[in-house]
Amino acid sequence: MFSTLSEVPPDEPFAVNGAYKRDSNPQKVNLGIGVYRTSDGNPWPLRVVEEAEKELFEASDVNRHEYLAIQGDADFLSLAADLVFGFGDYEGSSRQVAENMRQRVVSIQTVSGTGANRLGAELLARNIRPGCVWIPNPTWANHYTIWDLAAVPKKEYPYYDSTSKAFDFNGTFRTLSTYAKANDVVILHACAHNPTGADPSQEQWKMLAQLCKEKGIIPFFDLAYQGFASGDAKKDAWAIRHIFHDLNQVEFCVAQSFSKNFGLYGQRVGALHMALSANAPTNVSSNLLANLCHLVRGEYSMAPRGGAEIVKTVLGSKDLRKKWLEDLTTMSERILQMRHALFDELVKLGTPGDWNHITNQIGMFTYIGLTESQVSAITERHHIYMLSSGRISISGLNETNVQYVAKAIDDVVRT
Ligand code: LMR
Repeated sequence: MFSTLSEVPPDEPFAVNGAYKRDSNPQKVNLGIGVYRTSDGNPWPLRVVEEAEKELFEASDVNRHEYLAIQGDADFLSLAADLVFGFGDYEGSSRQVAENMRQRVVSIQTVSGTGANRLGAELLARNIRPGCVWIPNPTWANHYTIWDLAAVPKKEYPYYDSTSKAFDFNGTFRTLSTYAKANDVVILHACAHNPTGADPSQEQWKMLAQLCKEKGIIPFFDLAYQGFASGDAKKDAWAIRHIFHDLNQVEFCVAQSFSKNFGLYGQRVGALHMALSANAPTNVSSNLLANLCHLVRGEYSMAPRGGAEIVKTVLGSKDLRKKWLEDLTTMSERILQMRHALFDELVKLGTPGDWNHITNQIGMFTYIGLTESQVSAITERHHIYMLSSGRISISGLNETNVQYVAKAIDDVVRT
């Protein structure tokens, strides 16, 4: 019966990760999958997460294994939405203003960022029927799979300028303003673009947001690195907050993940937020939520509760939230140090090429600029693993291996 199944290529980050694990060479380096590693090359359960886990364990709540509502944990969702949209910042001036803003967002707990992207795509595909989804080229490869499954036609906009090694604003703006139509969806990485680490400036975000408003394009933000990118959760949500507060009639989606910024990769913690126009009729949000719950119930009933309890415990406590910000700084600073270390080593070696993009790009990844055959060579000759596009996960670098990696890059660039 299954002999007729078509062949499906393996998912690249996980395939590269598997190949790294199977390699027995002691000098091997994993720059493939996007996970944080300490300077010893180990995973890092955030200190604040361990503290919250201890608290939860000691509380030993008898309800801890009960079902959640289909929507998820209401307190977790409200804290998650606050983190994205910054409602709390408005509370000081007017509780009512903050409350009105909250009413404009419909949130549902999801199986991390992938689940949020998938649920949002399915909801839009079934109900809004977009003509197409505009996907940045390049992007996180799973965006293609997610929108394939939702059966929405896919088109690409040119995201990356390989000459300047930066965001291709002109190409993006020209493509969307010429070809995108009302009701099309556009995928936007809210910060720390995966795989390039190249982001729009605030001025560019403003122009893109205005374009979406004028043309009726539906922005779909993928927010996988809030706080992880710059160490500042507010800064990393700037584009979303701008569009929500300053262009308050634009309706859009945000897929939020807590994998990277809480180090809760395998716990699958996330949320989908649907931002409604300030003019939306009052009954829209309850019906939208009912539609989302209907999809979730049919797929997996509800998102898992364990990891969300941890995030809720941290974000709901002033003291723990402060510690979380410290942990974010630890991670983002180590990444920054490694960017500089790799850059310095390549400059020291006189490796042909311009390497400034390594320190200009932000977040977990850099598009290092190796060709596909140079990537194969670096893996074969030096046991260094990265995606075939030349995307490297900076957090796989540390004081012990950065010189080795720089020498290997030097080798494959010269030969
Ligand atoms: C990556 O891009 O390597 C990470 O975001 C892991 C994933 O889910 O693909």
